[in-house]
Amino acid sequence: MLFSPYTIRDVTFKNRIVMSPMCMYACDREDGTVHNWHLIHYASRAVGQVGLIIVEATAVTPQGRISARDLGIWNDDHIDGLRTLTSLVHEQGAKIGIQLAHAGRKAMVAGEIIAPSPLPFDETMRTPKEMTKADIEETIHAFQQGARRAKEAGFDVIEIHAAHGYLINEFLSPLTNKRTDEYGENRYRFLSEVIEAVKEVWSGPLFVRISASDYHPDGLTVNDYVEYAKRMKAQGVDLIDVSSGAVVPAKIDAYPGYQVPFAETIRREANVATGAVGLITSGRQAEEILRNGRADLIFIGRELLRNPYWPKTAANELGIQLEAPKPYVRGW
Ligand SMILES: Cc1cc2nc3c(=O)[nH]c(=O)nc-3n(C[C@H](O)[C@H](O)[C@H](O)COP(=O)(O)O)c2cc1C
Repeated sequence: MLFSPYTIRDVTFKNRIVMSPMCMYACDREDGTVHNWHLIHYASRAVGQVGLIIVEATAVTPQGRISARDLGIWNDDHIDGLRTLTSLVHEQGAKIGIQLAHAGRKAMVAGEIIAPSPLPFDETMRTPKEMTKADIEETIHAFQQGARRAKEAGFDVIEIHAAHGYLINEFLSPLTNKRTDEYGENRYRFLSEVIEAVKEVWSGPLFVRISASDYHPDGLTVNDYVEYAKRMKAQGVDLIDVSSGAVVPAKIDAYPGYQVPFAETIRREANVATGAVGLITSGRQAEEILRNGRADLIFIGRELLRNPYWPKTAANELGIQLEAPKPYVRGW
């Protein structure tokens, strides 16, 4: 199954292997633009036969960057570089998505940082300003403009980053959202409005990445996310990319496939497509997840940093003859 195609809306991925979004912090000019590193890095994984590449967390506002070296999509000037990136990846037969992000209280850039409530992540981080209604409206608009630019740049998929304790996740979790207005009474409201705003300008495949557990006794669990996933599906989200943690400092016992049970539960209980991610490193492990109906797509992170040809490695392991990029036929 790992090497069978998968179609969402009118986009077909040639296999089920997805490059998980991974920040490169490689914008040396600190202006959010695509640099040579990004072109080389992502195109290499396309040559390596990944079906769908999801570009790293890309900031919808400058103050929403994790660091000054993040990629950005807050300005029309970002579109040209991103278009070069999507066409390079398309030339190599892969599809390409982008993760639209706002770091909220975890932003480590100069100036004011914002979040649903004025609570710092830990004692080393700054206290954010509690967002006003105007801040909320502006930020939703920024996600929409990011989506519009992603479309103009030629992306096939948009993934909204609602995981890892960044802004949207901060609205969802009761540990970080202490508001008493409508965005606190209904903690899903902010994400819901971001999805609706994105949908006004984007009709392609839409993914949302979530943290399915806060790993905290008063935090969210996978059961809460089953309910959120049902709402996302009803709004037209095509796939939930199931990660976990990083909302508050917590110790996580990570072992091979440790997040897969979350993807499986959400897929079964909310009847929605899911992506599994986290310490998935072998072809057999990926195949098991797909064949046992635990997820629909397999997201690979660090293993693809170590080995851009991981799809070839996985195919060898599964006894599958993967077609070589033409210039490599003699060495494949
Ligand atoms: C260098 C690096 C950067 C990352 N940046 C992002 C990111 O931009 N967005 C995101 O959702 N997750 C990010 N992650 C998490 C990965 O997408 C992935 O979920 C995590 O590494 C677990 O998968 P793995 O065990 O296959 O690496 C990052 C991970 C690494 C190692």
